[in-house]
Amino acid sequence: MQSKKLKLREVDCVPFDDQRSGTAGLRKKVTVFQQQHYLECFVQSIFDTLKLEPGSTLVLGGDGRYYNREAVQTISAMAAANGIGRMIIGQGGLLSTPAASNLIRTRKAAGGIILSASHNPGGPDGDFGIKFNTASGGQAPEQLTETAYARSLACDRYKIADTAALELDTPGESAIGDTVVEIVDPVSDYAELMEELFDFELLRSALKRKICLHFDALNAATGPYANRIFCDMLGVSPECISNATPLEDFGGIHPDPNPVDAAHLVKLAMSDGAPDLIGASDGDGDRNMILGSGMLVSPGDSLAIMLANTVVAPGYRNGVAGVARSMPTSRAVDDVARELGIPCFETPTGWRFFCNLLEAGKIGLCGEESFGTSSAHTREKDGLWAILYWLSMMAGLEQSVGEIVQRHWARFGRCFFQRRDYMIANADDADALVQNLSSIISSVPGSSDTGQQILEADIFEYTDPVDGSLSTNQGIRLFSADGGRIVLRLSGTGTSGSTLRVYLDRTEHGPGVAEKSPADALASLGETAAAIARIEHFTGLKQPTSTI
Ligand code: G1P
Ligand code: ZN
Repeated sequence: MQSKKLKLREVDCVPFDDQRSGTAGLRKKVTVFQQQHYLECFVQSIFDTLKLEPGSTLVLGGDGRYYNREAVQTISAMAAANGIGRMIIGQGGLLSTPAASNLIRTRKAAGGIILSASHNPGGPDGDFGIKFNTASGGQAPEQLTETAYARSLACDRYKIADTAALELDTPGESAIGDTVVEIVDPVSDYAELMEELFDFELLRSALKRKICLHFDALNAATGPYANRIFCDMLGVSPECISNATPLEDFGGIHPDPNPVDAAHLVKLAMSDGAPDLIGASDGDGDRNMILGSGMLVSPGDSLAIMLANTVVAPGYRNGVAGVARSMPTSRAVDDVARELGIPCFETPTGWRFFCNLLEAGKIGLCGEESFGTSSAHTREKDGLWAILYWLSMMAGLEQSVGEIVQRHWARFGRCFFQRRDYMIANADDADALVQNLSSIISSVPGSSDTGQQILEADIFEYTDPVDGSLSTNQGIRLFSADGGRIVLRLSGTGTSGSTLRVYLDRTEHGPGVAEKSPADALASLGETAAAIARIEHFTGLKQPTSTI
């Protein structure tokens, strides 16, 4: 092993006041992270918060976006100075979020640092982000991220080793002083896990005989994972994988697999001769988009359909103890859980709220409307896993994506869902809207001038059934007389201005549901939402900036 000479330094700095984590870690413009001492202060706050035993193991990697490599070097040098015994780093500094979570668990690490701004654009003018995960593989809970924030407000010194840059591109071991640095293949452990959960032989044969797959890695982290799993292990032709090389700026693509930012995939799905299954994942590989010929699967439907069909994959064949969805996610899964007689938990937005439930064995599947779905196999959402699950349903049920979805609607009804986002330049305007609505919330039910009649309204709060912690102010909910639901909340992942998210859902039954569009089914609920929240009055916006 090559040992590097170590000189430790304590560097003085002025604390920053803007290092509070949002829905999924600290996200800022790259230029903010590039400020002198900025990254270091946040990382020191993480080390001070986690208080890891000397000699502990830490997993480190990211989605490969601009600044990823520099940050890996800095964090490694700081880890050595903070007494970390072993660093496990993805080759090239790359680790998808679910693969990092898996490595933390399989290598029994004390935690991990994941460098990602997920689906936010990358490049020198784009975004960068850091989240830290605990030994369970899950994102640090709110109480830890708040401790790190408090610590950052007082962080006037950090520890770092003066060391030559690590060679990140070759697997193997080296050292920074007493800290062992292990560069690992980012894919192999994760691929092994997928092979345990799904019947690869069945998938290989179905992909050979009848299912034409197209996967788009959007020039982000999942390219190498897709090449290994789909092509090398499942025999898919490399031409079926597009944008498979991770690029620092994602080649200018917005790495968010949703129908607006990945409209080219919707177009492909609607074209003649469309592939049978089209899948995509986001910057760090935790989101998924599923499309079939002529069909985009809504994430809420995807979760419900997975729960209704656990029989198709060895890892799920015996069913699951329970299921969870984030509060704004469509209530489609609730109906399946009811029929199966298992609990369905409703958690605040953000994957970390699922982690205690997963860890305690209370749930086996969970998902969010924001194209995130996963199971107890890891503690993060997982894009490629979702595509493998859909492949398993297609192969096991011998049905197309469209047939699977339509049969589900015929059985359970169709839960129409839309998310309308309003990008508001001035964050104060967004805050004023939410404050106003919160202050009148108790008088909304029964009021006659709101469009649709609202029967109930509240501000969602959540008591974690495992540790009893309370999270308040997690979004405003309004329930209409025709069974519809409106949810309003502000995004916690943006890096400028504010985004108001308005979520609408309503279930309809009957033969006509497949032909009806969500826009038609939810039109009147949307008008009601805009009127009650006085969106135009507070923001000047007559229409949503985007609808998903
Ligand atoms: C968004 C999604 C949320 C997801 C998060 C991280 O957060 O809505 O479901 O967990 O990104 O991927 P938001 O911007 O709404 O706070
Ligand atoms: Zn992501």
